[in-house]
Amino acid sequence: MRAGRIPREFIQEVLARVDLVELIGGRLSLKRSGHSYMARCPFHNEKTPSFTVRQDKQFYHCYGCGAHGNAISFLMEYDRLNFIEAVRQLAEQAGLPVPTGDDTGSGVASPAPDTQPLLDLQDKAAQFYALQLKTRPDAARAVDYLRNRGITGELARRFRLGYAPPGWRNLPPQWPEPDLISAGLCIRKDDTTYDRFRDRIMFPIRNRRGQVIGFGGRVLNDDKPKYINSPETPVFRKHRELYGLYEALEHTRQPARLLLVEGYMDVIALAGSGIHEAVATLGTATSEEHIQSLFRYSSELVFCFDGDRAGLQAAWKALEAALPYLREGRQVRFLTLPGGHDPDSLVRASGPAHFLAQVDAARPFSEYFFERLCDSLDMQRIESRASLIKLATPLIAKIPAGVFRSLLEQKLAELSGYQPAARPTPPGSARRNNGSASSSASGKPSLMRIFLALLLYEPRLAGLLTEASRQQIIAAPRGGALAEKILALLQDNPNLSSGSLQETFRDEPEEGFVRELLIWATSNMVSSQLEAEFTGTVHKLEQRLTEQRIGLLLDKSTRSALDGKEQDELRTLLRHTGK
Ligand code: GTP
Ligand code: MN
Repeated sequence: MRAGRIPREFIQEVLARVDLVELIGGRLSLKRSGHSYMARCPFHNEKTPSFTVRQDKQFYHCYGCGAHGNAISFLMEYDRLNFIEAVRQLAEQAGLPVPTGDDTGSGVASPAPDTQPLLDLQDKAAQFYALQLKTRPDAARAVDYLRNRGITGELARRFRLGYAPPGWRNLPPQWPEPDLISAGLCIRKDDTTYDRFRDRIMFPIRNRRGQVIGFGGRVLNDDKPKYINSPETPVFRKHRELYGLYEALEHTRQPARLLLVEGYMDVIALAGSGIHEAVATLGTATSEEHIQSLFRYSSELVFCFDGDRAGLQAAWKALEAALPYLREGRQVRFLTLPGGHDPDSLVRASGPAHFLAQVDAARPFSEYFFERLCDSLDMQRIESRASLIKLATPLIAKIPAGVFRSLLEQKLAELSGYQPAARPTPPGSARRNNGSASSSASGKPSLMRIFLALLLYEPRLAGLLTEASRQQIIAAPRGGALAEKILALLQDNPNLSSGSLQETFRDEPEEGFVRELLIWATSNMVSSQLEAEFTGTVHKLEQRLTEQRIGLLLDKSTRSALDGKEQDELRTLLRHTGK
């Protein structure tokens, strides 16, 4: 989805041109060690280096915490960029112009549109609305409204609150209408143009640099809609921006934690009570971009949502958005507000000390996660435990591999009383004895998993595959589809590095599985034995798939007659295996 805007070929081109060792070497001190470079892992606390960077494969891998990725992931994690920003930065470094993904088909970026005039206009509008609140005689209602809600003049100034007067057209007539319309301040309908915000308290929304990018406007009574927001513009993206983030960071550069609340008024009321670390989404669900952004500024997030159905739903959405960003050293906690309260009303009713005590007692992620999942389940019943596994597994898989994920997996095993045997573990012959968890684990990964892991880890091995093997493997009921996808990518581009190949699965359903396979391969494959391991695996896999197919056909023949084609197939298969 995120990757959709930049063509895949371009991303591969960028990854082919930048060197991961150079990129990381500019940020960490790397020591050469055989095939790879080593450093102390920047993603978890450690004394002895277990973070490796592989030049040949263009990936990094930490044997300690399981961090694994390519140049793009590194910039996202280390420099805390979002995906687009990371690609842009690498492209610039490689001297490539960035395509915009628009449908002009030219594939090359037109220079970014100049957003300064738009920002200037939003700022002028904020000044205008603030002035109306202060000076306009008929703004007394607005002033009273704010005062009744406990908002002082000082607080209103800090948040640049304003008032949009009643009446259809109040913004200064000398401001050009086309600009007002594209800024979302005016609406054009039929042949008339009128102000979007009328008789509303105005909340300017600022970006991280403090520039006004849009507005929220609230009615002074119980009319509907209670709030309206500016429409999306090139500078205003609701799924990225957070109300109050600029103000919170103005107060504390590096807040120990950030509170995510639901409304503008919650942010302001909390700030008025001396709690400056609250931010709100702009009436939209919490997105992954929100979470990514928040974790850039603080390692602890506390989600404060109402206890009603909508609040619980919003909290769960936020939880899901947070999964890909959870790891050791980061915390997400949940505060479910009591009895019809929102943070604004609660802090007003019981004071900041009480509110902060609630925040301190907010439930940790793992507790909240399993509590919500088990909520409607009777854990005495086997069926319920199976449901728990079914519900929890895909969610846990979204968490990056590492200590945190392992702990949740353990907890799931405890709660369900079921220990999964599916973790990939060393396949004997190509084991590297590194004393890590992998050598103590039991059970063997399936042949298909080993095959896929080898392909992802050393893409050139695809060249060793015969057409007949390829056909048989991609038809396999489990893993065949992924094998087909990988092999098709490598057919088009046989020189993809492991890091580039992994990139093509970003935001795809297979992303977590691919990462898991790569982590397993990195810990278990010995470079000098890769080819032998691959041909051996393919051979055994073919045998296994043949046996399975024979089994299936024989089984079917006991229940109904096989058709002619199936009989032929069975005969051929049996002849080949010599049975
Ligand atoms: P008040 O305390 O009544 O001023 O509102 P609130 O800040 O508690 O808001 P509420 O909990 O009702 O809603 C939370 C957030 O959802 C608001 O801050 C808005 O961003 C958004 N929201 C609420 N009502 C509307 C609406 O009618 N339209 C739109 N677009 N957004 C709304
Ligand atoms: Mn409220």
